[in-house]
Amino acid sequence: YADSDAASRAIAHEIAGIIRQKSIEGKPAVLGLATGSSPKKVYAELIRMHREEGLSFQNVVTYNLDEYYPMQPDSVQSYVRFMREQLFDHVDIPSGNWHLPDGTLPLEKLGEFCKDYEAQIERYGGLDFQLLGIGRNGHIGFNEPGSLINSRTRLMTLDLTTQIDAAGDFGGLAKVSKKAITMGVQKIMEAKRVVLLAWGEHKATNVARAVEGSVSSDVPASYLQLHENASFVIDTSAASQLT
Ligand code: F6R
Repeated sequence: YADSDAASRAIAHEIAGIIRQKSIEGKPAVLGLATGSSPKKVYAELIRMHREEGLSFQNVVTYNLDEYYPMQPDSVQSYVRFMREQLFDHVDIPSGNWHLPDGTLPLEKLGEFCKDYEAQIERYGGLDFQLLGIGRNGHIGFNEPGSLINSRTRLMTLDLTTQIDAAGDFGGLAKVSKKAITMGVQKIMEAKRVVLLAWGEHKATNVARAVEGSVSSDVPASYLQLHENASFVIDTSAASQLT
């Protein structure tokens, strides 16, 4: 796409199509969602469609990719807060239908929580659609380089690059969360449809490594080459390193 506006609108329309189709079938639309700068315009367009075109989120169930750990939901950096501000509080999604990894749990309860997070998705029959961004180190969710293709939902230590990129939000590198709970690569790969968004020249190297490089844990986004229905939706700057 020439720019992220047109691209974001197209993806929002694809998501709306899934929501409407599932609603006709009387089924939930199960969406895997991402935070960060990349999906913001997609959420804005979904809100616009809710307001202006009557798109209803009553049948939508969401599971976000990740949350910092530890993290209180009302903190400025919390992904719960991000999702409420960017989407949930502006549409008619029932409050019990959205889910994020719980950054408030004691460490000893995390293992059980992560298993249950995946079990819930499985009970819905898996994710109908997974939205992703890509980190400067090629991560998807917070599956940092080294993450295996069969990795499960778990607590991860964040790479230094990821911490540096989050420093602005936390008011300095020293204050950045060193850990996060992330959905594993396996659940992402099991989604029926995956769309990775990338805008800007700073994403170009990793987009090229993910799309044209070898499939490797060094660049977790490269696993998507093995997915049957995954697309990289990018602007011309993010595409500038593709051969
Ligand atoms: C966020 C997430 C991350 C981001 C990635 C890109 O929930 O899972 O993988 O998608 O770090 O972030 P932005 O979009 O801010 O460049």
